[in-house]
Amino acid sequence: MNKTQIQEMIDVAIKQLEYSYTPYSGFKVGAALLTKSNRMYTGCNIENAAYTPTNCAERTAFFKAVSEGEREFQAICIVGGKDGILTEYAAPCGVCRQVMMEFCNPDTFQIILATGREQYDVFTLGELLPKGFGPNNLA
Ligand code: THU
Repeated sequence: MNKTQIQEMIDVAIKQLEYSYTPYSGFKVGAALLTKSNRMYTGCNIENAAYTPTNCAERTAFFKAVSEGEREFQAICIVGGKDGILTEYAAPCGVCRQVMMEFCNPDTFQIILATGREQYDVFTLGELLPKGFGPNNLA
């Protein structure tokens, strides 16, 4: 991915902070998920009064995409912070890493963590979920 593509994903992820529904934590997260066919799916976190039904931004994006027939992904960009203020990277939770493991190649899938257009780092899924358990383990 080149810098222009990454910055486009960062812009889209930041835009999602507007839709983030967080009356309980106030921690807003936005995600932009890019398919291998270059379609972008968006996600935000959606909290719930019963707490556990809360859905993370990353899983919102994945489930939207998979529910529309997408199964091949190249990258996700994630931004987040208290009250939507981006001070440090919002790394994906363990459950979201595991959902990525279901559909993505840990050696090639890129996870872009950003606090702004000029401040980001790119990791592979394998770096953030070493020795992950996935579909290949059941093959
Ligand atoms: N959250 C995400 O959306 N993604 C993550 O990977 C970490 C946590 C959300 C869930 C909850 O709404 C808020 O951040 C605080 O945990």
